[in-house]
Amino acid sequence: MACVVLSFLTILPVVMGDITGYLGDSVTLSSGANSSWILSKIEWSIFSNITWIATYREGTLHPNTDRFWQFQGRLRLNISSGDLEIRDVRIGDALVYSVLLKDIKGEQQNKNLRLTVTGKALNHNNVPVLKVQSVGFR
Ligand SMILES: *[C@@H]1O[C@H](CO)[C@@H](O)[C@H](O)[C@H]1NC(C)=O
Ligand SMILES: *[C@@H]1O[C@H](CO)[C@@H](O)[C@H](O)[C@H]1NC(C)=O
Ligand SMILES: *[C@@H]1O[C@H](CO)[C@@H](O)[C@H](O)[C@H]1NC(C)=O
Repeated sequence: MACVVLSFLTILPVVMGDITGYLGDSVTLSSGANSSWILSKIEWSIFSNITWIATYREGTLHPNTDRFWQFQGRLRLNISSGDLEIRDVRIGDALVYSVLLKDIKGEQQNKNLRLTVTGKALNHNNVPVLKVQSVGFR
């Protein structure tokens, strides 16, 4: 599975970001939107199978952040920046995410972002660091 993902990623000419999240904390996935853009469409999905997790369409009052059970009640989508906040980060959230943006002039942009989830570097009980990564390369 890791090999399939690896070869798939290397042929894609899109921006790839990396971010680290800590178990139980919040992490914000940056959409990379140009701050001059006024977003008319935002689609955050799980890259490997294009499952939508949070979307926004111009003309609707609120973004839809409850599209997938895994993230139910844990997402907040900023509709001006396109940034996606994941609260109470879990091991299963260590995935590659993809965001598609469209501005009101019709320009589109796509970005992929890999989230690595780890335990705290130091915790109260001195338990060894827990490090989990769903995509096994680098
Ligand atoms: C953002 O958009 C403006 C207007 O289109 C452009 O001049 C500027 O170079 C863009 N900035 C970046 C970082 O792409
Ligand atoms: C897509 O991937 C996520 C994360 O690996 C998984 O939980 C979900 O079941 C997958 N969805 C489909 C339709 O395969
Ligand atoms: C949304 O993003 C904009 C631009 O980065 C920021 O100014 C604003 O405070 C954010 N809104 C919320 C609710 O976080």
